[in-house]
Amino acid sequence: MTYKILCAVGTRPEAIKMAPIIQALKKNSNIECRVLATAQHRHLLDQVLHIFDIKPDFDLDIMRPNQALTTLTARLLLNLDNVLLAEKPDAVLAQGDTTTVMTVALACFYHKIPFGHVEAGLRTGDMANPFPEEMNRVVTGRLTKWHFVPTESARQNLLKESIADENIFVTGNTVIDALLSVAERDASLPFVLDPARRLILVTAHRRENFGEPFKEICRAILALAERNEDVQVLYPVHPNPNIYNIASEVLGNHPRITLCEPLDYSSFVAAMKQAYLILSDSGGIQEEAPALSKPVLVLRRETERPEAVQKGVVRLVGSDFEEITAVTQHLLDDEMAYKKMARGISPYGDGKAAGRIALVLRDYFATCG
Ligand code: UD1
Ligand code: UDP
Repeated sequence: MTYKILCAVGTRPEAIKMAPIIQALKKNSNIECRVLATAQHRHLLDQVLHIFDIKPDFDLDIMRPNQALTTLTARLLLNLDNVLLAEKPDAVLAQGDTTTVMTVALACFYHKIPFGHVEAGLRTGDMANPFPEEMNRVVTGRLTKWHFVPTESARQNLLKESIADENIFVTGNTVIDALLSVAERDASLPFVLDPARRLILVTAHRRENFGEPFKEICRAILALAERNEDVQVLYPVHPNPNIYNIASEVLGNHPRITLCEPLDYSSFVAAMKQAYLILSDSGGIQEEAPALSKPVLVLRRETERPEAVQKGVVRLVGSDFEEITAVTQHLLDDEMAYKKMARGISPYGDGKAAGRIALVLRDYFATCG
């Protein structure tokens, strides 16, 4: 007997982290793995699907320019209903904390379809940070049958919320599976950087940084470029207009700052490998960069990924001009301080997480038959 598992992906990071699971599930003869793209992201999602050669079986084409959270949520729920009714999967998986994930979990609950949450158990404990992701995680956690957690501390978070231990599986984070497979390809960047200058790689997209905090982040990046002749900045800008417009205005006119379109995953991994350090508010980059021995200064006040901070290879600097410039300058000037952060400690996985997740599902369905 074959069982149908539907893997839902909406945004860039979900596709990166779900790709290894899709590949692992497709190796099982008792599982028919189907892929649903909500396309909450369009171009960013398509870039990843292309890199991993994934062709969705369903595409909801949800993205609209500058989409509001309420309309995004409502449109996702309506469109998901149609797919679940037509497809009738035996289980559904989604990864992370986006609106896609929360609505997929809720639609599965309404349709009484077992839901597996990949990268479960991450928490800051503050509903406003990150917004709306912390709410998405908490709601999704209430609706989940299989909680695939990346680390022991994520497992502890779920136990504190009275989730039964037998439903929690510590697997590692599938981002390391994806990273290792892509890093092997040894891609190059689509443009030439100056090999004589140290590279600061930048990304930012968080909703809680929109407006003044993000302007201050950009002013700090500009100041760092102005103060350090031997530094160049590469910043692939997120297409969200709340980010794109400010980044272009503040950073668009400096000879040692390159603003570019989002890089495809292979090129971005190449950029991380070439970077001296990374400034980012991204969740995924906090997990990947330590595995590549690159220090990350996180442009946020809190993180749901405390492991790398505790190991001293990631540091929170918020959106404060003085703090961002002072901590970055220290790492540029003090080699010992830099080496302490560039140690190749990777707390998020061993590259085998997807296989563990596939095994749990394979065994579950084997006993159903
Ligand atoms: C979303 C997730 C966030 C995740 C991030 C990863 C929500 C609420 N937010 O944030 O948790 O960390 O993705 O990047 O789920 N856009 C394009 N092309 C694209 C993608 C986005 O033009 O391919 C623009 C559109 O104007 C879109 C806007 O970005 O309306 C915002 O996209 P959205 O998915 O709502 O939020 P993100 O900020 O990308
Ligand atoms: N990434 C990419 N191209 C870029 C910037 C980031 O492929 O130009 C990758 C990055 O390596 C990581 C993921 O996108 O795997 C992170 O996505 P994002 O920061 O948008 O979302 P988050 O992880 O914060 O949810």
